[in-house]
Amino acid sequence: MTSIGHAGILVETRDGRTITCDPWFWPQYLGAWFVFPRNDRLPPELMQRIAAPDYLYVSHLHADHLDARFLAESFDHSTPVLIPDFPNRDFADAIRRAGFTTLIETEDGKPVDLGDGLTVTIHVEAALSDGPQGDSALVVDDGEQRLLNLNDCRLADLDVVLRDGPIDALWLQYSGAIWYPLVYEVGADEMTRLVQAKVESQFARAERYVHDIRPRVVVPSAGPPCFLDRDLWPANDLPGNPPSIFPDAPRFEDRLAAQGVRTAIVVAPGSTIELSPDTDAHVEHLTDPAPIFADKERYLLTYQADWAPWLEAEHARWGADIPNLLWAIRDRWEPLLAIAPNLRKAIGAGILLRLTSDTAPLDVFVDIARGEVRAWRGEPYGFRFTIDRRLVETVVAEGAIDWSNSLFLSLRFSAWRVGGYNEAVYSFFKSLSPERMRRAEAEIDDESAASSSPDEILIGDYLVERYCPHRKADLAAFGQLGADGCTLTCQLHGWQFDLRDGRCLTSDDRTIRTRPAE
Ligand code: FES
Repeated sequence: MTSIGHAGILVETRDGRTITCDPWFWPQYLGAWFVFPRNDRLPPELMQRIAAPDYLYVSHLHADHLDARFLAESFDHSTPVLIPDFPNRDFADAIRRAGFTTLIETEDGKPVDLGDGLTVTIHVEAALSDGPQGDSALVVDDGEQRLLNLNDCRLADLDVVLRDGPIDALWLQYSGAIWYPLVYEVGADEMTRLVQAKVESQFARAERYVHDIRPRVVVPSAGPPCFLDRDLWPANDLPGNPPSIFPDAPRFEDRLAAQGVRTAIVVAPGSTIELSPDTDAHVEHLTDPAPIFADKERYLLTYQADWAPWLEAEHARWGADIPNLLWAIRDRWEPLLAIAPNLRKAIGAGILLRLTSDTAPLDVFVDIARGEVRAWRGEPYGFRFTIDRRLVETVVAEGAIDWSNSLFLSLRFSAWRVGGYNEAVYSFFKSLSPERMRRAEAEIDDESAASSSPDEILIGDYLVERYCPHRKADLAAFGQLGADGCTLTCQLHGWQFDLRDGRCLTSDDRTIRTRPAE
């Protein structure tokens, strides 16, 4: 297994066949995210092998996994592509748009026999909260070794992976990959508290996977990125910067070591790990990762200087000549609001978009109750997003149907809200096409129709419903009781519940069934 940066892996099986996973090379999210450690100087021979493998696997639509430019411009389009079993065609369409014609459609959790003892199995998590129309994980089994490329997929049921045998190598995300909480308009102390809680919940989930899967080798991957733009530099985990949700791999390695797990291997692009049944993992680094993390600031400053002209051009690209931006948003969004009454109910309050500009600021009010979009006239609202108008023009001109992927992951905005997390708001912004909005609406319907399971488990002094009210993670595996004896954290996405009354401490619209044990 050769790291090719971020979530990218070049897998070579025992008979020499290769699978390229998640090759990401170009900066993404409006020039915000860069691969860290950098992979823009890999040797041509390795690049050739990455771009012309026997199979390509892309886990999901997020641009740090599906690098459309690299796939379109630099990849061998005769490569067969392994397609996860997502609920709509967006992913397969994106692969076709990149130029590929041979798509191997897989079924969720069903092994695909690629001949001569090689099987691959793609597991899918397909709720809107799992990513842009879902996320996936890949198991590669070459008859001798089994690799689980979990990347940032939140697999809720590990039994489906482990039923076919133990996992030898686990590549997984342990760091942040989201705008929360960094963009929220809160005081410094509150931000520190939120960041620490976020980092802790990310580590806890990854550790849960490591402890339950017990692989021979753990590779921290799929992040963090780095941020080379001056505007975003504070998001990097560096001494002197504010607390960051993007901790580096050595911190995860240290935490695992403190828990007695000494199988983590920190890699940089070009690092190769060779596994065979009877020997320990053999690791060779193209670039020693240790000095990179030891003097990260200097490394990033060099990286930043190298990409400064590109970043300048990226800034210059923002904006579009849209005759009436308000009408453009209105004409696209009002029909979508009309087909999503239950999603609107779940959002429950108006959304204000403050589009900043020196010359043409604009306040757009999304009247969730009435399903209208109009200029803001001072109405009360529950959610506020403050964004550079040029960025909104850019994504509107592109016809973006997922603002989380096209805009929010850039971290180039600030946000404010009344009360706790409201997943429905982001479901709306991820679903800006009729097909997606119908699905978001159906998901809300499913949630309200689903009766919670009668199963209960004992957690501390409480009998608690067994499956998390958020995305039904088995709390027997993912539930963790806090030291206070009453705060339950579901480690799959970090939601917390007060077991004394069932109140969700993360979101306003869920409760957990709980009662004192006799
Ligand atoms: S399933 Fe998401 S927090 Fe429990």
